[in-house]
Amino acid sequence: MTQVLKETNFDFLGKKKVGKVRDIYDAGDKLILVTTDRHSSFDRIIAHIPWKGQVLNQVSAWWFEQTKDIVPNHVLAIPDPNVTVGKKMKMVPVEAVVRGYLTGVTDTAIWTRYSGGMREFGDLKLPDGLKKNTKLPQPIFDPTTKEDTHDRAISTEQMVQEGLITAELLAQVKDTAMKLFLRGQVLAAKSGLILVDTKYEFGTDMEGNLVLIDEIHTPDSSRYWQIEGYEESLINGGEPKSFDKEFLRLWFKEHCDPYKDALLPEAPTELVEELSRRYIQMYEQITGQKFIPGESPVIPRIERNLKNYAA
Ligand SMILES: Nc1ncnc2c1ncn2[C@@H]1O[C@H](COP(=O)(O)OP(=O)(O)OP(=O)(O)O)[C@@H](O)[C@H]1O
Ligand SMILES: [Mg+2]
Repeated sequence: MTQVLKETNFDFLGKKKVGKVRDIYDAGDKLILVTTDRHSSFDRIIAHIPWKGQVLNQVSAWWFEQTKDIVPNHVLAIPDPNVTVGKKMKMVPVEAVVRGYLTGVTDTAIWTRYSGGMREFGDLKLPDGLKKNTKLPQPIFDPTTKEDTHDRAISTEQMVQEGLITAELLAQVKDTAMKLFLRGQVLAAKSGLILVDTKYEFGTDMEGNLVLIDEIHTPDSSRYWQIEGYEESLINGGEPKSFDKEFLRLWFKEHCDPYKDALLPEAPTELVEELSRRYIQMYEQITGQKFIPGESPVIPRIERNLKNYAA
């Protein structure tokens, strides 16, 4: 089986912080973000998916390029297929969630809230009787707080009252997130995709300017559906064809208790490879470019590509 990038331990870069998916080295005014193949679900790592890190890093890089006229982003360099060097920003403590369709199954999903009787979402008041997966009359800005423990669903008024963010900055975050989402929908459509919903993270620079950070419109931060078959699915009551990783979650639910068990079983190779193929397919469909696997072995390659960034 193809090798996977599980973790890095470069001692020549700055101090390392481990995120769910990224290893982040602090190089003073820069961050070196190494996107690994770690795959998280149930708040833990459940598998390693070959090429996933490269796909996420390069999809994000593509979208940063396509949106830089809307808002400056943190990208300084992409020195390796799995690495982005970003400007270190002061975090804006808000996850800028934007939703374009009435969908989702988790507690915080808009379809769950709508089918539970809720009708008002930000500036939008929805009528009764809408079907699952229909397009919203306009995208909604549906932010949560970004906190160390769990993100909370609180209103934008509460965010300002609690002093998390100023009203001015929040308005700017909203305006920028909506513009990014519209650009995302237009470009996705050219590739036969619907950008259904997404999440942005922002920071501010020394002068207080808003900067887009982290990742953008990746299959991890966004939901995508295929345009093909979407209308039919609405009529037939089926689900749209989507980039779907749920099958791997289901396998874990069926074979262990992923919320409680200290040690997880290893996912079957066929499932891991299927998910890997799906990530690569998404890369190719979104960017319109053929996926070129980075050179192996991956760790020495990254080390070589990062030698100019030695702390
Ligand atoms: N330019 C930047 N400046 C400061 N922080 C950044 C920047 N870009 C990304 N980050 C932060 O680096 C981390 C990226 O790692 P990763 O995506 O693995 O984290 P995560 O486990 O998803 O954590 P989180 O839930 O906070 O996103 C995130 O916490 C993100 O907020
Ligand atoms: Mg993240």
